Parts: sequence; C-alpha cells; structure tokens
Amino acid sequence: MNSAAVQLNDKHELRHFLSIEGLRREHLERILDLADSFVGVSTRAIKKVPVLRGKTIVNLFFEPSTRTRTTFELAAKRLSADVLNISGSESAVLKGESMLDMLRNLQAMHCDMFVIRHSVSGAVHFIASQLAPGVAVINAGDGCHSHPTQAVLDLLTIRRHKRDFSTLKVVIVGDIAHSRVARSEILALRLMGVPDIRVVGPRTLIPTGIESMGVTVHDRLHEGIRDADVIIVLRLQRERMCGFLLPNEQEYFRLYGLTEATLAHAGQDVIVMHPGPINRGIEMESEVVDGKAARILEQVSYGIASRMAIMALVVGAAPT
Ligand code: NCD
Repeated sequence: MNSAAVQLNDKHELRHFLSIEGLRREHLERILDLADSFVGVSTRAIKKVPVLRGKTIVNLFFEPSTRTRTTFELAAKRLSADVLNISGSESAVLKGESMLDMLRNLQAMHCDMFVIRHSVSGAVHFIASQLAPGVAVINAGDGCHSHPTQAVLDLLTIRRHKRDFSTLKVVIVGDIAHSRVARSEILALRLMGVPDIRVVGPRTLIPTGIESMGVTVHDRLHEGIRDADVIIVLRLQRERMCGFLLPNEQEYFRLYGLTEATLAHAGQDVIVMHPGPINRGIEMESEVVDGKAARILEQVSYGIASRMAIMALVVGAAPT
C-alpha cells in the first residue's frame, strides 16, 4: 500500500502517521521543531497544554509494550485529550469479533484518533485505509515493518545532542533483520541527510540487500563503530526469529555486546541509544547502560514530546 497516499492529504499534510516512507524532510523537521517546543511541558508544575482538549484518543495495543504505550498515554494526557487504553487481551477480538468491527464500534463512539500496535506488518496501514475520513491513525509498531514514532524520538534525541545531521556517523548494532525500529531509523536518518549510516551484526541478523537502503554493513563491532557519533543498539527480537540464527547469547555478547572497552573505538563524544527493553549483558554491558555516553532514559522522555507533536499534527491542531 502506498504510504504517501494513505498518510498525507492533498496539501501533503499528515492525516495519519504510519511510516517514514512517503514523508519529506520538511515533515520530520516540522515534527522535531514542535516536539522541541513540547519538551518543557513535562517539567512544568502543571504538565498540560490545551492542544487536544475535547479530543478522544484510543490506545489499542495488540502486543506487549511498556514505554511506547505509556508515553503515548502521557503524551495524550499532556495535550489534555481524553484517553482510553485497550489491550488485545481485553478486547472483544478474543470473542471472535473482527478487528475492523471493533474499530467501527469505537468509531461510532466518536473517537478522534487510534494509536495502534499490531504484530502483523501492514495491519496498521490497512486499518487506516478503512476508517472514516476524520479519524487519525498512528502506527505504534507493526510487525517487523515500521515503528516511525521511535525513529522520530531517536532523531529528536540525536538533534538535541549533535545539532548537524549532515556530518554524522550513525551505527545501528544488533538484530536488524527482525527490527521495525531499524527500518524506520534508516529511512529517517537518510531523509535528514546523515551521510554515514552503518549496520553491524551477525550476517544471519542482517537482511540481504540492505545496502540498497544506503547503509554499509560491518561484521566486526569495533570496526563498525570506529569514530561513530551515535550508536543505536537493538535487542535480539527472539519472539520474531524462526529457526536457528544465533549460536548462543554469551557468544553474541562476546562478539556484538557493547562494552566500555569497545566503546573506546567510537568518537570521543559518542552517544549510545537503545529503544528498550534492554537485556543487560546480552546486547550491552551494564556499565554502558548506566555510563556517561548513554542517552537511553532521555529517549524515553523525548518519546513523550515527540508523540505529543505527532498527535497534534495529525489532528491538525498543532500550534502555529
Ligand atoms: C521496540 C519495539 O517494540 O519494536 N521497543 C519499543 O518500542 N520501545 C524495540 C524492541 O522491542 O526491542
């Protein structure tokens, strides 16, 4: 399905936020500027702005999530919207109702926006194409395909530390093959003009032909992270792996686990990021997770501001 056709209106404004594909750099810059202006809301005594007052937002999560679901909920509440949370295990889908019928019922309650996470790639795009025109959909992660709001919060984290994307060396380490974060991240970094994007991991966890996305592939961690400005570490997505792709976790950590010692090969002011959840001692040693280069908890904070910006824009309520 053509993302641009579904997620943009005739004036090229966002009406849904489904994937980075089909967006222009101006879209990302507009989101990042607005997100920047929302960062301070979370540290005020009264953590609210009236941007989405009177709007109703439904968080619909068919897969487990801590950070993404709660930061979407907080983002909506900080914009003064009313929020409902429905998890897959509580929904009438378990009684045999189709997902579309359930959504049509929620639509009949005059909900304005659905934030959806689903294990099937493409499911969120399909839903967006089926709903009534004024109802917005945000993709909170679909299968191995796309996780565009994670890419935006990562861009915001990078921009607040590094400013100029046009000189950056960004490295993504780990299970690229099963990661919806990696795909969205690469597309977003390319759109922002990052000239040097590298992926590092065992060949079994790197999709063949990924070079066509404009990245270089490295097998050895210390070579891949050489002089890096940003390292984004990804989790081994065991729940999506079929078959025997890895020797064992100890061996994976020995070859690809980020340690303080390996970090010495990166640039002096390198920042280390991870979308979470982290498996300490598998993709990263604890000293790095808690170390001075880590920006992992900042990513969580910026997740709220980024999601506030995206929600405000898809409803057409962004302050000018
Ligand atoms: C990611 C996801 O769900 O794709 N996490 C997240 O959204 N915070 C990455 C992961 O699960 O490893």
